[in-house]
Amino acid sequence: MKTIILPMSDAGKKGQAEKRIEELRAELRRHEHLYYVMDAPEISDAEFDKLMKELKGLEAEHPELVTPDSPSQRVGGKPAEGFQKVRHSRPMLSLDNAYSEEELRDWDRRVHELAGSLPVEYTAEQKMDGLSIALHYEAGPDGSARLVRGLTRGDGQIGEEVTSNVRTIRSVPLVISAEKLTGAGVPATFEVRGETVMPEKAFEQMNKERVAEGLEPAVNPRNAAAGTLRTKDSSIVAQRRLDVYAYFLLVNGEYLDLGQDATLDALTALGFRVNPHRGKMHKVEEMMKFIEQTEKRRPTLGYDIDGVVFKVNSQATQARLGYTGRAPRWALAYKFAAEQAITQMYDIMITTGRTGKLTPTAMLKPVFVGGATISRATLHNADWIERMGLRIGDWVKIERGGDVIPKVAAIVEDADHPRGKEKYVYPTHCLVCGAEAVREEGEADYRCVNIDCPALLHGAIEHWASRAVMNIEGLGEQSVYALIETNAVKSVADLYSLTEEKLASLTQETERNGVKKQQRVFGPVEIKKLLKQIEGSKEAGLARVLMGLGIRFVGERTADAIAQEFGSMDAIMNASKDELERVEEIGARISHAITDFFARPANRELIEHLKAAGVKMTAEKKQKTTQLAGLTLVLTGTLPNLSREEAKAKIEAAGGKVSGSVSKKTNYVIAGEEAGSKLDKARELNVPVLDEAGLVALLEGRSRE
Ligand code: IVH
Repeated sequence: MKTIILPMSDAGKKGQAEKRIEELRAELRRHEHLYYVMDAPEISDAEFDKLMKELKGLEAEHPELVTPDSPSQRVGGKPAEGFQKVRHSRPMLSLDNAYSEEELRDWDRRVHELAGSLPVEYTAEQKMDGLSIALHYEAGPDGSARLVRGLTRGDGQIGEEVTSNVRTIRSVPLVISAEKLTGAGVPATFEVRGETVMPEKAFEQMNKERVAEGLEPAVNPRNAAAGTLRTKDSSIVAQRRLDVYAYFLLVNGEYLDLGQDATLDALTALGFRVNPHRGKMHKVEEMMKFIEQTEKRRPTLGYDIDGVVFKVNSQATQARLGYTGRAPRWALAYKFAAEQAITQMYDIMITTGRTGKLTPTAMLKPVFVGGATISRATLHNADWIERMGLRIGDWVKIERGGDVIPKVAAIVEDADHPRGKEKYVYPTHCLVCGAEAVREEGEADYRCVNIDCPALLHGAIEHWASRAVMNIEGLGEQSVYALIETNAVKSVADLYSLTEEKLASLTQETERNGVKKQQRVFGPVEIKKLLKQIEGSKEAGLARVLMGLGIRFVGERTADAIAQEFGSMDAIMNASKDELERVEEIGARISHAITDFFARPANRELIEHLKAAGVKMTAEKKQKTTQLAGLTLVLTGTLPNLSREEAKAKIEAAGGKVSGSVSKKTNYVIAGEEAGSKLDKARELNVPVLDEAGLVALLEGRSRE
């Protein structure tokens, strides 16, 4: 039969192109999933490229049909301007660690105690050594789910939006069909959390290229992945081949009540890459076996792992166990033992940190350990060095576990490794300012206590500007050094009086080939950026400012808690130790450090300067929880975990009332074991009855059933 080709109208052509584009996209998506997630390609790379080429060709002809979720868009788009900060739907927490069977047993015991009568089964997963990521999907018009946002962990509360970079990662689905969603029982608007890793091969490739370009190679895949994810040009990200392994599924900031094991199944069904090395178990012996197997597999996986994560499987049990400030009680990371190597130490370097502490660092002949080349390691403190009688030229054993900074673990001495000759004499003076360093009773370190020491100021400013504190980009080590050296900045408050003229006038002497020259420290573009960043940091808020002051022991979590409780710097400055200790996280040690800090006039003056400069020093006070406002509850029987007093205190703290007898006005009866007549009365009057878990859920505002 002869086919007659009729000339087509433009609309007809477009309709046909649209259809073909859709076909190609569906086909490409299927092959991407087979290739990147299942590791089971059906077609050759060349065939894949051909389909992609056809799609790109059609999209070039019909640019109005290009959508951000098209597979063609994985090549990355225009460079992003900075990164938007976005609050997480619920904090991205950390994990508590265990390093031995004993610690694992302790955890298992605690889990059982707290779980009471609820089931305890564990899931085991590999702990991948990358960085966590949150992927947000939203319902599209056709009921499918579309990737709308990718956020890094950031500080755990607020992440950085890296969506255009995440779009280039092939194992992240850009669209998930309505059928798949229905099949997995997941609504079209949801969030997936997982780990971004750079596979070994990609890491080697990247470093080869960097070295060829005369750049420093990245130390390890984790750093490489972190750097890549925060690259401003997503076409570079597209070349780097990151992978995302999914492990959590949330809807409206809550975990689905599937439990962990079924969550991993659902994620697989939705097309995410889920680490296949996983298990389910009850006993510590089985957990140890899983750890052993995983450690054996470790060298051949093709990506880095640094341990095993155990999670309580049941969602109800997880809810009962709850969280500490930084980590869930229902999960634990078992970290593999640190890797070791032996090398020679040719010198010891002493630096003065922002707290004035003199910190010794071992300078080493480069050695490969724990996936990275190490040429420096921490040396504990002066006390340790003296006790060990360390000598320059000694051979030392280096230990390095995953993200942990390498440390000198021991001195090695045998026929091949003779002791060094020169006994090391610890300096008694700060090497930066020359002032005598002091070592207080019972302290292991020397400290420089000269408040004018440039090292202290340098450290203070770097800390103030760091990402976790005021997040002032463009204030790196060198520029801070220049600001101090030129006397432009004598305290962190001075940063806020820097002007364009002032920064432009700063010069530094440089020397090249014996010729001395005065050179500008900052160029005009840098100056604009820096001033904008400094201005923006004024809004960082009370907790960040508090952290930025560098008070001993006051880190992020403590600063957050204090800021929420007191609401303003004035209230904190004038608080007594007792008042400070009313904050849950704060004990005598911290309250002492805080009151001691504010007792010094120079520090109060600093606060006044910052205030005058317009740095915000207030915070939203913690909202009183009013989850149970207006409700009357009756307690009866013995609850598994909470004492009668604890339960009453919690209810009242949430705005509820506790009554001694059941009436029609009672909203809930909380019944424990051996509940008596009050329970009968509740049933008679049709008052809802909850167990302890129900009460906890109610207090957390999760449900009222
Ligand atoms: S669960 C509540 N599962 O390890 C946070 N984390 O040390 C629990 N990680 O920030 C996260 N593999 O980036 C979980 N299978 C896994 C993991 C995993 C790697 C990372 C994650 C987390 C860090 C905590």
